[in-house]
Amino acid sequence: MATDTTTRIGQTTLKNPIIAGPAEHLIEAAGIRNAIRSGVGAVAIKSANEVDAAKDQLERSEYTLFDEHWRPIPWNPQAPRAATLACRSGMSPLPFEPWLDQAVRMDREARDHDCLLIPSLILGEIGPAVEMARQVEQAGLRVLEFNVGVPYGSQTKKGNVATELSPDRLGGFVAAMRAAVSIPVWVKTTGQSERVPQLAGSAFDNGADAVIMAGRLLGFVPDVETLAPVFGTSLGIGGFWNLPITCQWLAMTRKAIGPDKPLIGINGAQTGLDVARMMLAGASAVEIASPVMVYGFELLQRAVAEFSEYLDRKGLAARDLIGVAGDQHKTFMQVDRRPGNWRNYVPADALGT
Ligand SMILES: Cc1cc2nc3c(=O)[nH]c(=O)nc-3n(C[C@H](O)[C@H](O)[C@H](O)COP(=O)(O)O)c2cc1C
Repeated sequence: MATDTTTRIGQTTLKNPIIAGPAEHLIEAAGIRNAIRSGVGAVAIKSANEVDAAKDQLERSEYTLFDEHWRPIPWNPQAPRAATLACRSGMSPLPFEPWLDQAVRMDREARDHDCLLIPSLILGEIGPAVEMARQVEQAGLRVLEFNVGVPYGSQTKKGNVATELSPDRLGGFVAAMRAAVSIPVWVKTTGQSERVPQLAGSAFDNGADAVIMAGRLLGFVPDVETLAPVFGTSLGIGGFWNLPITCQWLAMTRKAIGPDKPLIGINGAQTGLDVARMMLAGASAVEIASPVMVYGFELLQRAVAEFSEYLDRKGLAARDLIGVAGDQHKTFMQVDRRPGNWRNYVPADALGT
């Protein structure tokens, strides 16, 4: 019997837990189509909001990859998997109406491939966000991603995009969205907080159907030749190294709010095994976003194939993975003592009286 790769996020079933996450490669129809055809369970398209200044931000975007010496390296599929991606980005350049029309057209294509097309709204002001969400629902789209945790909130004008750090305020935004639409609302929260589990808890308390965690961190990279900051400002940074941080949030959130609340992992996944890792930590599905900008849509195809091969090899269904490692998490007081173990991890000439 073929492996069961399906997963459930509340009332929504996906043919597999791999979701193409939003970034610049999912602005135009060609990219969205390629993501749908890669075989992923869902595609979340580049976000819209109502703020012209946030759209204009896209025209100020800059992108680079760094190697482990913080030297810029070419942006192409030969880049090493360990590269760090740094950028400033903005909203979809499309005005809302054509953005929605395109989403509806792409949703039809997605249905033909048993794929879920996910429109994504980024919080600017809650009034217009709610109004856009109503139109998303009226247009027949099946679920909504609502991003209240964009990395750049502190770097741009108030009201352009939100990096919501207060569980109470986040709850208020989610409640307003919940009151406005009846389709599932998946809330994407920031990682720039020590309170990710509380942010997620508040989202669920106020009617979210899933929480996507966690948005990227900000970084600042001085250039030792020019003495200036790379691209002049703070950058959203990400890379493979973010996977353990995402898994930490998934496991701790599952522990804090219970196993029945669907979590979606994002930030640092590149492969099918990375998807398995985030699911073992507690995710019901996993988004892969920026690596596709560098390595192409084949990366999604490879992730789908590798994930399915992994399930075959382990004789497991996708849903068997959710939270298995997270639920074995121990506190430091519960792990075995290892007297003197630290001595094996310092230079030899660090030992001795
Ligand atoms: C260039 C770029 C553009 C992005 N645009 C969006 C966006 O429009 N909406 C959104 O919710 N997230 C956006 N993100 C965030 C990604 O969806 C994702 O949360 C983040 O990159 C971490 O996941 P990854 O390691 O798979 O890239 C963007 C990220 C990058 C790098």
